[in-house]
Amino acid sequence: MKEELLELVERNGTPLFILDHKIIRENYRTFKKYLPRVQCYYAVKANSNQQIIETLFHEGSSFDVASYHEFMQVYQYIKHFEKKDKKYYVWDKIIFSNTIKDRTTLHRIKEYKPLVTYDNIAEVKKIKEYCDTAGLVLRLKVPDTGSQVEMSSKFGAEPGEAQDLIQQAFDAGLTVEGISFHVGSQCTNFNNFTEALAITSEIFHSARKKGFNLNLIDIGGGFPVPYDPQVPEFEKLANILNSEFKRLFPDDIQILAEPGRFIVATAAVLVSEIIGKARRDGKVFYHINDGVYHTFSGVVYDHWIPNFRAFKNGETEICAVVGPTCDSFDKISLSVELPGNLEVGDYLLTDNIGAYSIASATKFNGIEGAKIVHKNLNPVA
Ligand SMILES: Cc1ncc(COP(=O)(O)O)c(C=O)c1O
Repeated sequence: MKEELLELVERNGTPLFILDHKIIRENYRTFKKYLPRVQCYYAVKANSNQQIIETLFHEGSSFDVASYHEFMQVYQYIKHFEKKDKKYYVWDKIIFSNTIKDRTTLHRIKEYKPLVTYDNIAEVKKIKEYCDTAGLVLRLKVPDTGSQVEMSSKFGAEPGEAQDLIQQAFDAGLTVEGISFHVGSQCTNFNNFTEALAITSEIFHSARKKGFNLNLIDIGGGFPVPYDPQVPEFEKLANILNSEFKRLFPDDIQILAEPGRFIVATAAVLVSEIIGKARRDGKVFYHINDGVYHTFSGVVYDHWIPNFRAFKNGETEICAVVGPTCDSFDKISLSVELPGNLEVGDYLLTDNIGAYSIASATKFNGIEGAKIVHKNLNPVA
């Protein structure tokens, strides 16, 4: 592993973001294996690299998009399908899961008869006016206690408003296809999922009683990644979900999910290089050539705590690792146990950096950011 990484670094330089498509395929297959009833819509926001979309498309994945650009990143693979079937292909392959869409976006996606989420009455009016070909999915506010990134303070209708919002959409001449939720990203508290399913089931059944023929549920993302050994196993969550699906919903409904992190986080490592070393207030500061404005953007936007390993051995101490920009905010971590004897030109390795990293990187201070290299792009026959 170390030799292979060093060889890649020799050829490509640093910082180097190494994305292994074999792991992406394995993660997708694990998801499908343990949740066989669930159709996987990969959340493109987690890492929108085009080659990831291509790999997953060939695996049979569908996609969750949040903007016109992301929509088109996926649509290019389905545009050749027969016209008469296109609506079903679009629905089968893409859900537009941003509950708030601007008018221009709605107007531009109208011709594709998309499946879109909503959580308020102003959105119903907007969809009616600018994209009345859409099928609707009502996003609910659900508990997100303990999740690494909370969602419910910004998205989701209160369960108490749900029936009215379904009624209002049908009154406007639109069709509500189902209900969605998101329990927060990196959700290790599985009660969030069971509570969300219970809330969804109640609303689903009372809507059906009123004659609204909902036929799908979308359980969002949040599937946790083993960043550390305390994270409970995906298989355990899948068992809970499968038995709750059986208990709470009819067999013939469609179940969608929008995993992002689960599919890509473990598929990438980053090699960065020490470009400066200083002792500040007694602590070793390693200045590296990547930081929070670049591949480590997840430290800010994703509340992520990155890990670092050195390629060299040495007596360890608590060090700081900071980014290359001329900005004091660019501190990746002030407490990392690393050998104190590393020098300018030595490398650091960060695992599990595939999600919410390059997706939200900037070019601040004129710094381009990591080069991306792909491993195992083609599946072994
Ligand atoms: C609507 C929606 N779906 C899916 C996801 C993916 O979530 P995760 O990466 O936790 O699986 C997100 C990300 O936050 C999201 O906002």
